[in-house]
Amino acid sequence: MIRLAEETAEDWWEVEALYDLCFAPGREALSSYRLRDGVAPVAGLCLTARDDHGILAAAIRFWPVRIGQHEALLLGPIAVHPTRQGEGLGAILMRESLQRALDLGHGRVMLVGDAPYYARFGFEKLDGVEMPPPTNPDRVLGIALVPGAWEGVSGQVERDEVPQVHQ
Ligand SMILES: CC(C)(COP(=O)(O)OP(=O)(O)OC[C@H]1O[C@@H](n2cnc3c(N)ncnc32)[C@H](O)[C@@H]1OP(=O)(O)O)[C@@H](O)C(=O)NCCC(=O)NCCS
Repeated sequence: MIRLAEETAEDWWEVEALYDLCFAPGREALSSYRLRDGVAPVAGLCLTARDDHGILAAAIRFWPVRIGQHEALLLGPIAVHPTRQGEGLGAILMRESLQRALDLGHGRVMLVGDAPYYARFGFEKLDGVEMPPPTNPDRVLGIALVPGAWEGVSGQVERDEVPQVHQ
């Protein structure tokens, strides 16, 4: 059996190790990581999936981003341990986290990834939404959790700036 749980601070490095295993070396050089630098992931949407022995099988994280005045969620990274791929864990994490995002009041979600995989969850190419270069525009995908949420949204995707606290 697989148990889903919200990621905790104690999970952080284990999830990082899973991502290191599943992605090519240098994953943090990807432009999407520049949108995550110094920004906290979205609490309540970052999930872990563990087996009966507590072994981490899969994980998903989300970050807040902005496109002009519009807020959006950046989905990812999502990864499933190589020994557990193809069992539907990725789909479970996608569907559960997108439902939670809707429940938390988020209207639009985007990601950079393979359209043939993400189309099954309702993601489509986002025209006019630009990730920091170098990003293949065909891999910039979005889903409107609320109908029409992406209408009129275009421009550069930017970090959700965190207000600086001076002491
Ligand atoms: C991509 C990933 C998250 C999918 O998770 P998963 O649990 O293996 O996927 P599921 O079991 O839900 O779905 C399996 C199906 O997705 C397909 N699929 C997996 N990765 C795919 C991809 N990159 N492009 C197209 N289809 C893909 C499989 O062929 C399979 O198809 P089928 O249902 O027709 O047999 C997982 O394979 C993974 O961690 N890969 C390495 C890291 C990665 O690439 N993350 C995504 C970054 S864009």
